[in-house]
Amino acid sequence: MSDKLRFGLIGCGSFGKEFSSYLLETADIVALCDVNPDSTAAVAAHRNLTAREYTDTNAMLSAGGLDAVAVCTGNFLHRDITVAAADAGLHVYCEKAMARTVPECWDMVRACERNQVKLMVGHKRRLRPPWARMIELTDDALLGAAVSGTVAQHTDNRPYEFWNCWWSDPALSGGFLHMHGVHVLDWSRAVFGDAEKVWAVTGPQQDPRYKFPDSLHVTVRYKSGAVFTLTGSLSYPIHKFRESQGPRVECRHGGFKLEPFMDHLDLYWQRLDEDEAHHERFDDLGFDHAFGLEVNDFARWVSEDREPCLTWVEGLRCVELMEAAYRSVENGGDGIALPLYPELEP
Ligand SMILES: NC(=O)c1ccc[n+]([C@@H]2O[C@H](COP(=O)([O-])OP(=O)(O)OC[C@H]3O[C@@H](n4cnc5c(N)ncnc54)[C@H](O)[C@@H]3O)[C@@H](O)[C@H]2O)c1
Repeated sequence: MSDKLRFGLIGCGSFGKEFSSYLLETADIVALCDVNPDSTAAVAAHRNLTAREYTDTNAMLSAGGLDAVAVCTGNFLHRDITVAAADAGLHVYCEKAMARTVPECWDMVRACERNQVKLMVGHKRRLRPPWARMIELTDDALLGAAVSGTVAQHTDNRPYEFWNCWWSDPALSGGFLHMHGVHVLDWSRAVFGDAEKVWAVTGPQQDPRYKFPDSLHVTVRYKSGAVFTLTGSLSYPIHKFRESQGPRVECRHGGFKLEPFMDHLDLYWQRLDEDEAHHERFDDLGFDHAFGLEVNDFARWVSEDREPCLTWVEGLRCVELMEAAYRSVENGGDGIALPLYPELEP
């Protein structure tokens, strides 16, 4: 019998199907679950699996024979599925965004703590080598602490037609940033540290098919005093999704910028005492590395209690930033202090 971790994959849609290949590099997928049986069948066929197939999570959990679940459903299900899996004694790998709101995140954390199971949230962006390299550049021996930065992620989201599904309904996804902002906001925490205040305003609605404001400007101030802005919109024809998220960051001893293209990324960085910028080109976009690291670390966290690259902390604090931004919008752009729910903090 294999001693690999036995996963149940819950949510076999576009991401679950892709993620199954990374799970299989390290673990076994012994059960698949999706309300749409065609989706479980498609993953089983695509990956040549003999996994049991379910259309109901509780049926899968009560059948047993699992060590862990990978939650790859829409965000509105992350809390309930995680709590049910933890109560069944299973470790949980949950996709980002961790949940729609901070209270949902705490429910997940508390369920995993009370059942003594691990909970990781898949914030892979900070693990992709070009993005990890920018975090590394903030080492004092290179550029030093980041003091201010920006990302302008105006993108052409039309090809995805997200207005037709859960992504663009804030009651289901959480909101604009849960769809287009979550990755960069998590990465910003890796660069600038913990946040203390958030301001946000929206622009005029461009595309009425989105159920949330489709342009948003967010400013975050971190405990270090550093500031970062993220601006985003969804009907900007010049940039595709992957081309739209290049940060520019000033650090104590210099600065860096990332120029992302569809097939490669160019990173430039320079110290104040240098005459020319360094150029590092990444032809590998780094997805395989990041997802492989997540799954491998999750498995070793479970089996060896080895410290992982990610836990639930990144997931919860990122949701907190996003929820604070929405609250600021509702309050006319007022600054919202963190923690957002002091009464829920341990
Ligand atoms: N890490 C990344 O880079 C990344 C990229 C894309 C998506 N994601 C995340 O993955 C998750 C899924 O996104 P997606 O694009 O695959 O969405 P999707 O809509 O394509 O897939 C979701 C699947 O969940 C199924 N589902 C719905 N209700 C269910 C239930 N009660 N039980 C079991 N299955 C159910 C749906 O039938 C669908 O197949 C989201 O949380 C998203 O944020 C992460």
